[in-house]
Amino acid sequence: MKSKLEQIRKQAQEALEKVSDSDALLNLEKKFLGRKAELARISKQMKDLADAERPLIGKLINDVKRDISSIIQKKRSETGGVGKSKEFDYTLPGLRPNIGHVHPIMRFLEKIEDIFMKMGYEVADGPELETQEYNFDLLNFPDEHPARDTQDTFYVDVKDSKGREKLLRTHTSNVQIHAMKTRKPPVRILVPGRVFRNERTDAGHEAIFYQCEGFVIDENIKITDLMGTLELFVKRLYGKEAKIRVRPHFFPFTEPSVEVDMSCLLCKGDGCPFCKKTGWVEVLGAGMIHPNVLENMNVDPKKYSGFAFGLGIDRFMMLYYQVNDIRLSYGGDLRFLEQF
Ligand code: FA5
Repeated sequence: MKSKLEQIRKQAQEALEKVSDSDALLNLEKKFLGRKAELARISKQMKDLADAERPLIGKLINDVKRDISSIIQKKRSETGGVGKSKEFDYTLPGLRPNIGHVHPIMRFLEKIEDIFMKMGYEVADGPELETQEYNFDLLNFPDEHPARDTQDTFYVDVKDSKGREKLLRTHTSNVQIHAMKTRKPPVRILVPGRVFRNERTDAGHEAIFYQCEGFVIDENIKITDLMGTLELFVKRLYGKEAKIRVRPHFFPFTEPSVEVDMSCLLCKGDGCPFCKKTGWVEVLGAGMIHPNVLENMNVDPKKYSGFAFGLGIDRFMMLYYQVNDIRLSYGGDLRFLEQF
């Protein structure tokens, strides 16, 4: 076996020495190192060798393989690489570089903005690093409200002008107050943006996700205007079959307040992990803007009224594109992202 291996090494060295094009090099590589090569056959016989002989032959096989591989590497650089040695065909289509594309959440937000802009809304934005005043106080949150707790909110080691810790905004409702600093009613405003919550994640919950705030302030705005707007929005987005249901709820900044669920389009109502087996997905909170909040915006609540809503963009997007786990959006996995 030893002399056979030496013979293979010699044969390979001689054959490779003469090679001058990459096709021939590929053939010799297959002949000496391929799955059906003599070396491969000898390697399989190792198990039949005596215990004392096995390590010596094993080492020799590895040495021969290494020597042949290194000659092949050297020859490959001399013959100009792997593959066919035919002339370069300039008529072949080029390789398209992967330049990426818009993230599904952003693409979906554009659809939402489009629907609301056609209803006369203006798009605004506001800060993600926020004061407690704008995220809570001016939105009528009492001091003891549980949302202020560190278990729900990410506080940041940066102080505002009053010496209070800033936080990562927990909702886009903070922009209601910012936007009205420079505007007077009548207004129709839409605020898409990222929000942050100290949440345990699951198929429907993330710690960083997107909301889209919408609010309208004018004379004589009623809750029926809110309902009509939401219904129209959902039908424009998903078509006539989409169903919503409204439940009474409590938000400190709206009175009355509601939560709105959408029929789960993933399981068509049969129940799945995303809708927690209920057939319905909570997609937004809404209500009539509280008079205290209107006053904090310097809007006279006796003359004006308004409605506001906060859409959970990720959940709307998941229903739209049939995505069954919110964490896929933020995992950075190209196999997911490239489907959009
Ligand atoms: C709010 O954040 C209110 N600011 C909404 C609002 C605006 C009410 C204006 C009244 C007037 P809520 O916490 O329910 O409400 O969140 C709104 C929506 O965000 C939810 O319906 C849900 O779709 C989405 N959402 C909430 N938490 C998460 C989470 N952890 N991951 C993904 N989406 C979430």
